[in-house]
Formats: sequence, C-alpha cells, structure tokens
Amino acid sequence: MTGKVTAIWGSPGSGKSTIATKVAYRLAEQGRETSLLFCDTTAPMLPCVCPPGEIERERSLGSVFAAAHATANLVSNNLTTLKRSDKLKMLGFLKRENAQSYPQCSERLAAELIDCLREIAEYVIIDCSGSYDALTLAALKSSDVTFRLVSGELKSVSYYSSQLPLLAELAPNLDAHLRVAANTRPLRFWEHINQTLSRTAFALPYSAEVERQCADGNLLSELKSKDGRLFARELDKIISEIL
Ligand SMILES: Nc1ncnc2c1ncn2[C@@H]1O[C@H](COP(=O)(O)OP(=O)(O)OP(=O)(O)O)[C@@H](O)[C@H]1O
Ligand SMILES: [Mg+2]
Repeated sequence: MTGKVTAIWGSPGSGKSTIATKVAYRLAEQGRETSLLFCDTTAPMLPCVCPPGEIERERSLGSVFAAAHATANLVSNNLTTLKRSDKLKMLGFLKRENAQSYPQCSERLAAELIDCLREIAEYVIIDCSGSYDALTLAALKSSDVTFRLVSGELKSVSYYSSQLPLLAELAPNLDAHLRVAANTRPLRFWEHINQTLSRTAFALPYSAEVERQCADGNLLSELKSKDGRLFARELDKIISEIL
C-alpha cells in the first residue's frame, strides 16, 4: 500500500487535534484503512479522543521512539486499536507519558515512521504539534496534502504571523497548503481570521456539540445537533480534498 499523508498544522488551540480525529474517523467509517498519528508528546492526545472503555488494544508511540529503526511490523504492533472500528488505528503517547518517558525521536526515525504508516494504511492523518518536533517536521516535509488552520483569537493570529516565515523555510509547497479558518469560540471571529488568512479554502464553524465532545474526550461520537451537522458538512469538504 502507498498511503496518502495528510498533515494538519496550525496555531495553538485552532482545532488541529479535533479536526484530525474527526477526519480520520470519518474516513474509517467510509471503509478506508486509516492511521491517525498524534505528534504531541507534551499533552498525550489518545486519552482525549475517546473513553478508555472504547480502546481495544492500547500501545504507545514511545515504543517506536525507543527503536533504532521503524519497520512496518514494529509500527503495526504499536498502533492503538478501537472496539468500534477496525479501520481506524491510532498512534500517540498514552496517559501520564511525556517527552522524557522515551528516547527522543530523530528526524530520520520520524521519516521512517511516516513511511511505515504509508505501507500500513490507505490514509495517514497527522495531527502536528505547535512546536517543530521531529515528527511534525517530517510530516510537513512528506505530506501529500497539508491543511493550515488558524482560529481568530489574538494569540492564534500572533502565532500564525510569527511562525509563517519559519514554516516557509521548513515546508515545501507552502503555496499548496489549504487554509482553514476555524472558529473555535462562540464569538464571531471570522473578520480576524480573514485578515490573517487570505484565500481561505474552508471555514469550520463553531459548534457547541463539538466543544462538548472535546470536553468529554468523546470525539468519535456522531454529531447530531444543527451546529454539529454544519461542522460535519464543512469537514466533508475537507475530506474531499484528501481523497
Ligand atoms: N469547531 C469547533 N467548535 C467548538 N469548539 C471547538 C471547535 N474546534 C475546536 N474547539 C475547541 O477548541 C479546543 C482546542 O481544540 P484542539 O485541541 O483540537 O486544538 P489544537 O489546535 O489541537 O490545540 P493544541 O495547539 O493545544 O494542540 C477544544 O478543546 C474545543 O474546546
Ligand atoms: Mg492538538
């Protein structure tokens, strides 16, 4: 298999992990073999996306960091699996783990790991971290599609304008990145976002239901409310760029 890699990068709190998880689960629901890689080693995301009772097999990304080389076998054996879907497999740090729990991941190992995920899954969704750790750098360098998110808060706008020149040096095809305006707060921030991000390709609306799912650590649940369905509709447009 030669899976397609999608990197989701953006300012802090702009909804990267939420969107990455929702996109990955939706692809799995459509019957596509999908891997979801969480780069964040400071705030492990696996405990935040679904309740422990939904996990079938729990494994840590750290076991890959501890290896000299990444192989498809090693990576497969360290994917976290779910009871509700045999199509979605996740890779990330577990509860109570942090960057000190394992050896640091080199850029070479990170690139090997992403290549292995391409062998394992049809679609590889990477939730980049806000810092330029080896995994995030490898994801930005090797992705087939990159989404760049910005929310409207001043901190997010400030991060974005500060990091963009750096990103331009690190990521090839910056112009091909798809820009996503993400409204993560009930206040209307579209104007802020539009001033920061010209040529926005997608606009994800604020949804109280999405916010509640994040708070409950229950992102694999269906969105049923009116605002939730509006969010899901925009998410489907994002997914059509990935397919
Ligand atoms: N569309 C949305 N509607 C409502 N709330 C949202 C939406 N997207 C994200 N949020 C809120 O924003 C918070 C941050 O989202 P998330 O953790 O996905 O962002 P992030 O970019 O991954 O953050 P970090 O930079 O810390 O990794 C969520 O906990 C949730 O409260
Ligand atoms: Mg995140």
